[in-house]
Amino acid sequence: MSKRRTLVAGNWKMNGSRAESAALVGAVKRGVGAGVKAEVAICPPFILIPFAAETLAGSPVAWGGQNLSIHKSGAYTGEISGPMLRDFGCSYAIVGHSERRAYYGEDDQVVAQKFGAAQAAGLIPILCVGETLAEREAGTTEAVVARSLDAVLAAHGIAAFKHAVIAYEPVWAIGTGKTATPQQAQAVHAFIRGRLAALDQAVAGGVRILYGGSVKGANAKELFGQADIDGGLIGGASLNAEEFLSICRAAD
Ligand code: PGA
Repeated sequence: MSKRRTLVAGNWKMNGSRAESAALVGAVKRGVGAGVKAEVAICPPFILIPFAAETLAGSPVAWGGQNLSIHKSGAYTGEISGPMLRDFGCSYAIVGHSERRAYYGEDDQVVAQKFGAAQAAGLIPILCVGETLAEREAGTTEAVVARSLDAVLAAHGIAAFKHAVIAYEPVWAIGTGKTATPQQAQAVHAFIRGRLAALDQAVAGGVRILYGGSVKGANAKELFGQADIDGGLIGGASLNAEEFLSICRAAD
């Protein structure tokens, strides 16, 4: 079976000083340059993006934002726009991370707008979807994931997924050390791809679906080996260069 090129993306969340990020970005750049086959990207906090951009320019490691405004520019105090991220060389923008949904009131409609704003700026959105523990226990995992996907499909159409990445991140697995089993993750990834395939087989076959939630060096290989898992969105482990690089190598 021909698989899509694996993508390993680091989501630093709100972590990192100038000194820490210089060390981390430098180590990731060297490690990836030494022969990682997967595509690798990092998403530092906005304020550290210029440093990452300087260090990574011309290297195989891409970078992106963890969020973006739905607007291009204007009177939106505290916001960062897609064109600003592009201006600093970002390739990606994470949209709809569960922490944004839970703490900043971003619902599926706002996330769909952010997805569009990212693409309008020439960024590839990494669209995060995933259920809480209560939703999983209530048997509504597929309904929750479908609702998030459908909001983006309704706003932008299936063709928009030619230039997008999806990340399935079960909320109960994020930062908890409780990874979904490869079988649990694969089942939801297959569901996501199937839902897109019902609209366009080729787009569904090409879109990369990452798994996120307590991925580490020790469990990455088995996760990435599943038919519909095309890499990972890595939180905690992306703050440790050796651990992050071992995840990147697990994707080879
Ligand atoms: P984690 O976070 O790897 O620390 O579980 C994943 C994420 O939130 O993207």
